Amino acid sequence: MKLTIVGGGGFRVPLVYTALLGMKDRLGIEEVVLHDVEQHRIDRIAPVLSGLAIERGIQLPFRGTTDLVDAVQGADFVLCAIRVGQLEGRVVDESVPLGHGVLGQETTGPGGLCFALRTIPVMMELANTMAEHAPDAWLINFTNPAGMVTEAVQRVLGDRAIGICDSPAGLMRRVARALGRESDQLWFDYFGLNHLGWLQGVRDGDRQLLPGLLEQDAKLDTFEEGRLFGGEWLRSLGMIPNEYLYYFYYAADTVNAIRESPESRGAFLLRQQSAFYAEGEQPPETALQQWRSTRHDRERTYMAEARSAAGVGADDGHGHDHEIDENGGYEGEAMAVLEAIANNTRAVLVLNTANRSALPFLDDRAVVEVPCLVGRSGPVPVAVGEVAPHARALVETMKDVERTTIDAALSGSRRQAIKALALHPLVPSVAIARQIFEEYCGRLPGLAEAFSE
Ligand code: G6P
Ligand code: MN
Repeated sequence: MKLTIVGGGGFRVPLVYTALLGMKDRLGIEEVVLHDVEQHRIDRIAPVLSGLAIERGIQLPFRGTTDLVDAVQGADFVLCAIRVGQLEGRVVDESVPLGHGVLGQETTGPGGLCFALRTIPVMMELANTMAEHAPDAWLINFTNPAGMVTEAVQRVLGDRAIGICDSPAGLMRRVARALGRESDQLWFDYFGLNHLGWLQGVRDGDRQLLPGLLEQDAKLDTFEEGRLFGGEWLRSLGMIPNEYLYYFYYAADTVNAIRESPESRGAFLLRQQSAFYAEGEQPPETALQQWRSTRHDRERTYMAEARSAAGVGADDGHGHDHEIDENGGYEGEAMAVLEAIANNTRAVLVLNTANRSALPFLDDRAVVEVPCLVGRSGPVPVAVGEVAPHARALVETMKDVERTTIDAALSGSRRQAIKALALHPLVPSVAIARQIFEEYCGRLPGLAEAFSE
């Protein structure tokens, strides 16, 4: 098997590589190729990977390249996690809306739309390259905003493009733990779009476990979503939302918390990650140790602005799986998909895939995030059926915003881009949408050029 990682010099690649070390025989991996647009990023991550292989006493050779065709040629699986515009872009995405009192966040709100506008054209290039040079490959896409990106590339790759996110699986694991149960013994009724989903039921045989859990504040207090949203609001909803819905339900509170914090998430990461990548050549052991401590600080502060707005303290490491051990959330999802397809395991995984009729109020090509049965023919979404009216309304609105954004990204139409921003529920007016878009163009020359008409 040839496996290609696009964004191969990325900071979370060692997590994926660790998981691959554990699965290499089961998957029959023969070649791992790291592609990145910057050789120096590959050079920085390579010794970290070597350190991991030495530590575990397993050999899994890899090579780096900056040539995309070489990287994907004949691949069986392409894992993609890229950040177009890098962290400098994320800082702009997040800070411009904040200047207008609007949420500034990586994937939610105007920041996510701006991120999509510059990312989708690059992802279409990858999709076209794959269609030509690796027509049988599966694309496992982490690239954010994952829902929009996956829907866009599906226009070229169809169901071979699968979007993944660690957030739903994390929620399900945390809920199982709070219930004192193994998650594979339970059925989770999860539905929505990427970073916009809800857990509306947890079933054990014909027993519904969620209503009981929602009544117990002490148990809700043991995990991130319970603490963030609070028992009172969860009981009102009758569901547990994905952590990203905090930015919708508590938008103004988050804006205030971010404004009070010394720096935005993007700015913190830019500083932290630049320091990591600026280091010169290091032996594997040193590189691995530095990567670990940098990662520890990154995960410890994940979603800190939401926690601070909610008035809940830093995580103790058990309530959230953006955890510090090296075999969990992020890479776990990618590996589970890979294994399910490669070995036809027919596992049930929450993935971003075309709706078919899982959510009956959306059309069949809308990419949704729902449980899927996954085997060698890819993911098949399960039927979710009708959902709470409030959730349905938000999903419908956001799907329209997503599609307007995709159209804008593919056409370079300013009108469409501004329309997408203005229709976003977190943007309070058309005038503010226009200002935000103009400011984005002012600060991102590439965007101004793509939308010059
Ligand atoms: C979660 C989300 C990802 C997101 C990441 C941000 O893992 O599922 O989609 O990119 O958090 O984490 P960061 O450390 O970059 O703020
Ligand atoms: Mn995600």
